[in-house]
Amino acid sequence: MSSIGIMTVGGDCPGLNAAIRAVVFRAGDRDRSVVGFLDGFEGLAQDRTVALSKANTWDILGRGGSILGCSGENPFRDDREAADAAVDNFNSHRLDGLIVIGGNSSMGTALMAEERGIPVVGIPKTIDNDVEGTDITIGFDTAVQTATEAIDRLRTTAESHDRVMIVETMGRDFGWIAVAAGIAGGADIILTPEEPVDVEAVARTVKSRQDNGLEFTVIVIGEGATFRGEDVQYGSQRPGDRYMHLSGVGRVLADKLEELDPGRWKLTVSVIGHLQRGGSPTSTDRILASRFGVRAVDALLDGSHGNMVAIRDGKLALTPLTEVAGKLKAVDPELLADVRTFAATS
Ligand code: F6P
Repeated sequence: MSSIGIMTVGGDCPGLNAAIRAVVFRAGDRDRSVVGFLDGFEGLAQDRTVALSKANTWDILGRGGSILGCSGENPFRDDREAADAAVDNFNSHRLDGLIVIGGNSSMGTALMAEERGIPVVGIPKTIDNDVEGTDITIGFDTAVQTATEAIDRLRTTAESHDRVMIVETMGRDFGWIAVAAGIAGGADIILTPEEPVDVEAVARTVKSRQDNGLEFTVIVIGEGATFRGEDVQYGSQRPGDRYMHLSGVGRVLADKLEELDPGRWKLTVSVIGHLQRGGSPTSTDRILASRFGVRAVDALLDGSHGNMVAIRDGKLALTPLTEVAGKLKAVDPELLADVRTFAATS
C-alpha cells in the first residue's frame, strides 16, 4: 500500500487533530496509509515520523493542539542541507505526496516544497483567518467563540462596577477575531489593525455613553492595532525571534485614555492571548477540518497538487498555492462597515 505524508506547520489552533483524523480516514478509503511528520517541516528534514492509522486517530476529533506537534521552521529558506534532507526523506518514504496544514507563511513553505518536486496540498488553518484564497480557516470559529465568551463575562463585571474594560484579542496584523467576537459579544467599541485608532474619538464615545447614563464601556482591540499618527505595533521581541510577538496594545490604549483625562475612568485591561488558540474545537471547526481533510486527500491523489483546499463563496474549492503564498487577507471592508451599526470604531 502506498502512503501520503501529513504535517502541522506554524502556530497551533483548535481543529488540527480533526483535520489529521479526516486525512487518515479518507486515505484509508483510498487504500493509502499515512505517515505523520513531527513538528512540521523540521520533522521532514530530520525524518521524525509517526505511523497514523484509524486506531491512533479515531478519538482525536475534539482534541485541541496537534498530535504531530507544530513548528514554523522552513528548511527550504536558508538551509541548503536541511532542504536536501527534506526532499531525500520525502523520497525515501515513497509517498504519493504531502498534506501541509498551515497558515499563510506555511503555505509559502509548502509552495517551496512543491517547487522542489514534492507534490503538496495545503489545508488552511489559523485563528487569525488571514489566509488568502479561502473565506475561512480552521481554528477561527473556535477562537471567536472563546473571545466572545470572554467579552460576555467581562461585560457583566464592567457593568456592575462602572468600568471601562479593554479586551485585547489576538489576530496579528488583522482584526478578524476582534471584529467577529466584538459583534458577537456586543462590544461598544471595536478597534482593529485595519484602521489606526483615534484615541480622542474613543474617549468621546466613552464620555457620550456616560452622558447617556451608560457608565461602563467594553472596548475590543486587536493586538496588531496602531494609533493615528504613529507607526508602531506593540509587543515584545524575544531573543532569537524572527518576528515580533504582539501583545500590549490594550495597556497602551488604557494609558493613552488615562493621559487624556486623568482619573476619570476606571480602566481595566484583559489580554485573552493564547486562550484563543487552545482547547477543543467548535462543531463548525470540526466539520470544516473534516471536510478539508477529505478534499485534500482527493486533490492529492487525483493529481491536483500545488493547491490549497479552501471555502470560497460557501463552497469547497482549490486555490493554487501560488495565489496564496506571500499574501494576507485583511478584514472585508463591507464587514468593517457593518460593524459601525453596532459599535464605534476608529
Ligand atoms: O497566528 C496565530 C497567533 O496566535 C497570532 O494571533 C499571534 O500574534 C501569534 O500567533 C502568537 O504567536 P506565539 O505563540 O508564537 O507568540
